[in-house]
Amino acid sequence: MLNPRHAPPVPIEPVRIETDRLILRPPGPGDADAIYRGINHFDVVRMLSRAPWPYRREDAEAFVAGVAHRDPATDRPMAIVHREHGLIGGCGFHADAGKPFPELGYWVARDHWGRGYASEAVAAALIWARDGWGKRAVRASHFVENPASGRVLIKAGMLYTGVVEALHCAARDETLPARGLIWLA
Ligand SMILES: CC(C)(COP(=O)(O)OP(=O)(O)OC[C@H]1O[C@@H](n2cnc3c(N)ncnc32)[C@H](O)[C@@H]1OP(=O)(O)O)[C@@H](O)C(=O)NCCC(=O)NCCS
Repeated sequence: MLNPRHAPPVPIEPVRIETDRLILRPPGPGDADAIYRGINHFDVVRMLSRAPWPYRREDAEAFVAGVAHRDPATDRPMAIVHREHGLIGGCGFHADAGKPFPELGYWVARDHWGRGYASEAVAAALIWARDGWGKRAVRASHFVENPASGRVLIKAGMLYTGVVEALHCAARDETLPARGLIWLA
């Protein structure tokens, strides 16, 4: 009998989520340019915690080069690809060491705001986190001054925890209040 301690690792399927208008799949090297053009807008980076400003092409290249080295147990970055327009955004789950539930983050390129893409992507990503990744809960947070993000998360079934935490925004080099949410699968 095979000793489970010596069993080969079970291959982890790359994520692929399909909605009416979008496909969510791991970012690849060919996505660096679209990611650079999408994030390199101050209206986008100012609402993210980790993206630097200016956001350089090298930042996007380093991001896509690092995707293959992420631990799929804790990190699931995804490109949001529109069936006609190509890559229009990104979303992903990340679990800090010791934290039981992953955190969801996302962005949509400025030219594509207001068409329901984030809502479509986030709702589908949460369902996948439960059905395809086995997660029982997902966390998220948004800067208090970003109600559009709050709307996206609430529509996807997340609930405000009531906790407001100080969150650093790298692009602005400022620490700002952020509202926490949780989604129970
Ligand atoms: C937040 C973001 C992802 C939304 O993307 P989007 O594709 O435009 O979102 P959607 O069109 O799916 O939905 C936006 C919702 O916010 C609402 N909204 C927009 N501006 C708003 C505002 N100032 N106040 C309240 N609600 C607002 C819209 O009406 C819509 O809700 P509705 O469907 O009930 O009408 C996009 O603005 C973005 O990338 N921002 C910068 C990065 C960011 O904030 N990421 C999230 C970090 S927590």
